[in-house]
Amino acid sequence: MNRRRFFEQFTSEALKAASETAAEALSDQPGVRRRPRAGERFIRVATAGPPSLYEPGTIVLVDAARAWLRRDLAGFYAVDALCPHLGCQTVPDGLGFRCPCHGSSFTSSGAVRKGPARSALRFFAISLGDGGNLVIHRDQVVSPKERFVPQG
Ligand code: FES
Repeated sequence: MNRRRFFEQFTSEALKAASETAAEALSDQPGVRRRPRAGERFIRVATAGPPSLYEPGTIVLVDAARAWLRRDLAGFYAVDALCPHLGCQTVPDGLGFRCPCHGSSFTSSGAVRKGPARSALRFFAISLGDGGNLVIHRDQVVSPKERFVPQG
């Protein structure tokens, strides 16, 4: 291999490694698009601790479920944190959500307020699991009006 060929190959591999490192670093930043890594799947059912952790008005990202868990005065609800456009992680925006990637925004009921997203955010069922922990069911879509109220 001559010097020029070696330099071209070295530069190409160094650039590829640098871009992969940057992508991985960015992927952990809130609101930055995060493609699932090979073989990675989001947990379809994820626990979020006991209801007593959450005061009305609280909103938290339950990372394992890729869902926003919110508590209002009526109860708990879980909203898909992945934008229906190309899968970026949304961020809360008042009572609604917005996507930092291409500017979509959504109302508190998940309806598209502004595109390019064309479909609404999904809401997921919540139940109380073993040990009294909230469980988010990504595989059960419910109405945005539905609230989970823990008994007892
Ligand atoms: S991924 Fe959300 S607007 Fe494009």
